[in-house]
Amino acid sequence: MRKVPDFDAVVFDLYGTLVDLGALAERCREVAGDAPLLDRWRAKQLEHAFIRTILADYVDFWQLTAEALDAACAELALRPTAGERDGLLQGWLELAPFPDVPGVLERLASHWPLAVLSNGSPAMLETGLTHAGLVGYFQEVLSADAVRRYKPDPAVYALAPAALVVPPERILFCSANGFDIAGAASFGFRACWVNRSGQPLDALGRQPALEASSLEDLVEHGD
Ligand code: LAC
Repeated sequence: MRKVPDFDAVVFDLYGTLVDLGALAERCREVAGDAPLLDRWRAKQLEHAFIRTILADYVDFWQLTAEALDAACAELALRPTAGERDGLLQGWLELAPFPDVPGVLERLASHWPLAVLSNGSPAMLETGLTHAGLVGYFQEVLSADAVRRYKPDPAVYALAPAALVVPPERILFCSANGFDIAGAASFGFRACWVNRSGQPLDALGRQPALEASSLEDLVEHGD
């Protein structure tokens, strides 16, 4: 490892961090052509998660994702058939890992306990990680479902120190999602922003302890 702050466990966000939404983008293009369906779907998914958490009106991430798809389609005046709609939803279960992910997890797992901490429902996480071939790397697969709230609510982040029995400041938390970095840093994790797209981070008053352009970049100096 390159010089990084000390830690005793590594926790990962899933969607966009370990698994690539590229295959889903392709399915969206097949249904919606040039309309920005995936962007609006993802935005609605996050928006619904935030609103439902603030309102304490939980539905699981599978239902929320379906409702977000319907909202995005309505906004874009798209009318997918029932089969197309099912195929789009199924896409969340059949995502591939980013190319750097299996090798990096292999290396990290020989030094530290690893976990996933995701808004995804337990069934989505189990199916998705199995499909991606990643399930064996993780000591814990933690779903926001356990607290019926979504990230960036601190109750979700609190699942990781409790399950791993490692204090927050000894956990390196890796995410490609800006809101998740703000939430993780605010909670007290050492946050690592996996900035795969080279985008700026929104000014949310919290900075990551580390920034890497990929997971490979995080471990590039060998272990
Ligand atoms: C997750 C979303 C936020 O995996 O990417 O929780």
